[in-house]
Amino acid sequence: RSNGPLAGKKVVVTAGPTREHIDPVRFISNPSSGKMGFAMAKAAQNMGADVTLIHGPVTIEKPEGITTIEIESAQELFEQVQNHSDANVVIMAAAVSDFTPKETHQQKVKKDKADSSIQLKKTPDILSWLGDHKNDGQILIGFAMETENLLENAKDKLERKNADWIVANSLNDDDSGFASDKNKVHLLSKNDSIQIEGLKSEVARQVLSHIFKNS
Ligand code: C5P
Repeated sequence: RSNGPLAGKKVVVTAGPTREHIDPVRFISNPSSGKMGFAMAKAAQNMGADVTLIHGPVTIEKPEGITTIEIESAQELFEQVQNHSDANVVIMAAAVSDFTPKETHQQKVKKDKADSSIQLKKTPDILSWLGDHKNDGQILIGFAMETENLLENAKDKLERKNADWIVANSLNDDDSGFASDKNKVHLLSKNDSIQIEGLKSEVARQVLSHIFKNS
């Protein structure tokens, strides 16, 4: 749609999990399905945006008419986001691994030789980097999945990462979160907070309509 509220805007969405390889056949990851991020990308497209979707390994269908870039590790995701950091809106829906092995073995680690421990280091916090390098008028939307103190942690994330909005969801709710088609979220900014519940497609639409209602 050339006349939607996001017409002429470049929107970058990240989605899905990352994989942090220990060796060629083993990695650290999480159960992110990519569904919420893909829904955000489609909702932005429906509002007229020019969307780039950067995503980790997922099994769901690629959305039509959206440029997709596949990544595997948090570091690769970071590099692609940096390449596209001129976007008007960045939506960080990816479940980025917080840690990666200090060393990735080039060959499969043998059972008999295997060390009993894997040393980890922190991955770059991509949303924080974006918050530190925010362009004029750029809107940053982060996600927060929590198992406790949802709103408190989400508020803290908003400030710490210099994001404009956080979409917070609780892993404790039935029928929301990782693989579900539904979601139940709190959308919050510095001085605004609303609850949205429904199919991920509908939640995505309402999140973006709320944020861009006056644009
Ligand atoms: O700190 P936490 O992982 O809970 O923050 C979640 C938000 O930060 C999400 O938007 C996620 O995509 C983003 N994130 C990131 N880089 C990381 C970890 C999380 O951009 N290394």
